[in-house]
Amino acid sequence: MSATLLDGKKLAAEMRAEIAAEVARLKTETGVQPGLGVILAGENPASLSYVTAKEKACAEAGMFSREVRLPGTATQQDVVAVVQEMNRDARLHGILVQLPLPKGIDERAVIDAILPEKDVDGFTPVNAGRMLIGETCFLPCTPHGIIQMLLRAGVETRGRHAVVVGRSNIVGKPVAQLLARKAPGGDATVTICHTGTKDLASFTKTADILIVAAGHADTIDGSMVKPGAVVIDVGVNRVPDATKPRGYRLCGDVDFDSVKEVASLLTPVPGGVGPMTITMLLFNTLEAAKRTAAAM
Ligand SMILES: NC(=O)c1ccc[n+]([C@@H]2O[C@H](COP(=O)([O-])OP(=O)(O)OC[C@H]3O[C@@H](n4cnc5c(N)ncnc54)[C@H](OP(=O)(O)O)[C@@H]3O)[C@@H](O)[C@H]2O)c1
Repeated sequence: MSATLLDGKKLAAEMRAEIAAEVARLKTETGVQPGLGVILAGENPASLSYVTAKEKACAEAGMFSREVRLPGTATQQDVVAVVQEMNRDARLHGILVQLPLPKGIDERAVIDAILPEKDVDGFTPVNAGRMLIGETCFLPCTPHGIIQMLLRAGVETRGRHAVVVGRSNIVGKPVAQLLARKAPGGDATVTICHTGTKDLASFTKTADILIVAAGHADTIDGSMVKPGAVVIDVGVNRVPDATKPRGYRLCGDVDFDSVKEVASLLTPVPGGVGPMTITMLLFNTLEAAKRTAAAM
């Protein structure tokens, strides 16, 4: 078998067109233009490229964005002060703090300073708690993007066994929660694997849907995948490659060549989960703006 590729770029483009239409409608009917505040501290090249992509996506959707850049020497107080100022800025409905922050800054303290109603990344404890108990909240972008991909690709999750490799707060844990929800894109029976798991392959081989967010290239190869499984590769790893102008290439957490021979559906890296993550940030910012408009 050779897997069909799940084209995240195409799905994301479809969703972004829907979001842009909704932004235009909101502006016309209420005068509210969704706005995103972006905070970038330090000179991490990957962070810079993520922030640039997010701001470009905002502009293309007709949203307002405002960026504050701080030097790598910025203190926790400096970053929190910008967050607090953005909390008060009525033009901004969402705030994004690009992680990682420079060494010495407690990221949790910075995230906690974001008003929950502007937490469009869904990282504050209030949002995480609301998601857990099924209350209205902002769903974290990467896990939500994965669920949207599965829904739009027509993948049935109900009654199927989903295995998630990884238990981080931003990907593994929340995607496992969403897959187990009593909701569309949920109702799966979910197993979470991590570095404490003994014999990883014995679990991954039983997955109808396998989500891999381990942060290491080649964590999963074809021998660890059930024939016909749907495989979502969340990983983004830079692998040295002298043939590329930048000296590296991007790859996911699964060994693409062997897994594509076994899976039925597989996300590529790049062009899989990544574009959906940015799309869900736009989705949440629009949602935040709609809530503001409804309260006016
Ligand atoms: N495309 C996107 O939009 C997007 C967004 C976010 C993240 N990512 C990528 O997704 C990957 C995961 O991100 P993250 O933030 O969740 O990473 P993370 O915080 O490093 O967490 C990795 C998780 O994987 C587990 N793990 C690592 N190696 C394992 C192994 N061999 N077997 C089983 N479990 C293993 C770890 O277990 P322990 O808890 O036991 O340490 C941990 O829970 C990264 O490559 C990241 O760049 C992509």
